[in-house]
Amino acid sequence: MGLSFSNSTIDDLKSQINIVDVVGRVVALKRAGANYKGVCPFHNEKTPSFVVSEQKQIFTCFGCGATGNVIGFVKQYYNLDFNEAVEKLAGEYGITIKRNNFGEDREKYYEINREAARFFYRAFTEQKNPGYAYMKNRGLEDATLKKFGIGYADGEWDSLYSYLKQKGYEDKILLELGLISEKDGKKYDKFRNRVIFPIINTSGKVIGFGGRAIGDAIPKYLNSPENKVFQKKNNLYALNTTRQDIGKEGFAILVEGYMDAISLYQGGVRNVIASLGTALTENQSKLIKRYTKNVVLSYDADSAGQNAAMRGIDILSKEGCKVRVLHVTDGKDPDEYIKKNGRDAFLQLVDGALPYIDYKLQFIRKGVDLETEEGKIDFIKAAAGILRELSPVEAEVYIKKLAGELRIAEGAIKMEILGNTTNVPVPGPLRRNLREKEEVHDSLTPLEASLLKTLFVNPVLTERLLDFDQAITSRLGRKVKDILFELYGLSGDFQLEQVQDRLEPEESEVLAEALSNVVICGNEEQVFEQCINTWQLQCLSEREQDIITRLSLADEEKNPESIEALTRELMEVQQEINSHGGRK
Ligand code: UTP
Ligand code: MN
Repeated sequence: MGLSFSNSTIDDLKSQINIVDVVGRVVALKRAGANYKGVCPFHNEKTPSFVVSEQKQIFTCFGCGATGNVIGFVKQYYNLDFNEAVEKLAGEYGITIKRNNFGEDREKYYEINREAARFFYRAFTEQKNPGYAYMKNRGLEDATLKKFGIGYADGEWDSLYSYLKQKGYEDKILLELGLISEKDGKKYDKFRNRVIFPIINTSGKVIGFGGRAIGDAIPKYLNSPENKVFQKKNNLYALNTTRQDIGKEGFAILVEGYMDAISLYQGGVRNVIASLGTALTENQSKLIKRYTKNVVLSYDADSAGQNAAMRGIDILSKEGCKVRVLHVTDGKDPDEYIKKNGRDAFLQLVDGALPYIDYKLQFIRKGVDLETEEGKIDFIKAAAGILRELSPVEAEVYIKKLAGELRIAEGAIKMEILGNTTNVPVPGPLRRNLREKEEVHDSLTPLEASLLKTLFVNPVLTERLLDFDQAITSRLGRKVKDILFELYGLSGDFQLEQVQDRLEPEESEVLAEALSNVVICGNEEQVFEQCINTWQLQCLSEREQDIITRLSLADEEKNPESIEALTRELMEVQQEINSHGGRK
């Protein structure tokens, strides 16, 4: 049972233990003004950016962002959970640990929920009742109903309340759990005349309930309110029952409704889970990822369901899940589909589920008329926004496909992805790919054009460019740069015409054209510095991408050291990206 510490124990710890002392045992600290400074133990650095404030009793690393109080430090440094950290500190400093009954408290909540679930289950199974009739009528079999512990809340106002009261449970907790409601001082059952879906977490505890109206009563579903043991954002319906199946199949099918989940399960598609009537959350994605990173979204066919899928994709992708989207072609949701068409037909839909990028492209395509020029342009702009997130290789595939379908040059789509409309290019994985091509072609990148333009405005900047001449990568750019260095070296000045004289006529034209497209607003030195910063960011994000790829390829078992080194390198790069003002 998870007993937690009383607040006074935590207060004692914080007031009696000096963080400088605790940190000082493992990090060499030097006084720096009111604070102490040292080399951060949480990332690899040479110059100390790890600061401990004695006054505030906290630590902060300005390099990697690690921060916290004394307990947080012990947790992170020794890799402990909160309880272990408190115990360690209390033990070392001779502080008596007082525990409160918070943990027991939770157990009580679970126990009451379990009692309620049993009560509903008996009402559902032991006599004739409208709930059972309703579920049978919807095609559910006894075995399924039993598996999910489906119950029935009768239409009286106090069946459950009197039952639980007679068992001695406090009104306060029953109210908190949302099993009863209170109006004008009168307490009554919250769930009445509803089919009950108990919601059970992966530790097998009943944490809440969903109650479906029998027939058309409103609201269709009534759910337990958020409380100490029930947080929608942290749980998924049916996962307790289906996680083994998810592991076995290697993917999870995520649906919107309780009914969808149990109906697919009954139909023989068992690797299913349902969100709890709210938009998918980050924590739910993390929960799924414990069992699989492959998710097939199978939301309702209506536009609400499709919009929810679009959002779900982003949340899941962010946690590193591989998402595909299934579209039911018959009926409004997976429940209707499988009842009508059976397991094999549903599995075919699973096989045909679209990779999320295809789904997104298809989604934005619906809103535009591709027969018109404007429609095409709108579509390409929106598509570019989606493809921008992909790796170069992936993007390439989609660019080809779109170019073919829309009868548009691949280059045009690439330009759109790069946001060629501005003269400062977007850093990102795609750049690398394009730059290789640009090296072959006789043209300037937008970044080069901007940089060179500032030099023509103010030749003194040529000296600055000496330090960053690798920012000029195209063949023409390098040729121009060399001429500029030479001219500047000779006389400390140059004119565009002088450069043009030494270029081929086509090159000269390309240069003039590129430069005329750049408008320098304000101070050219600032524009120069901005360009350099953008270029450095580009290089950094390329390095970042590289490391990420290498990390994803490295074998965790075989070379943990190299993973550690790569992770450290990644942190350094990301830190540097931040110090350059982060990504735009
Ligand atoms: P649906 O309306 O798709 O429900 O809502 P369903 O599960 O398919 O139920 P049937 O087939 O109509 O009986 C999806 C989910 O949204 C939540 C529930 O979790 C439901 O399962 N919801 C819906 C609510 O919480 N309250 C509502 O009033 C409606
Ligand atoms: Mn439904």
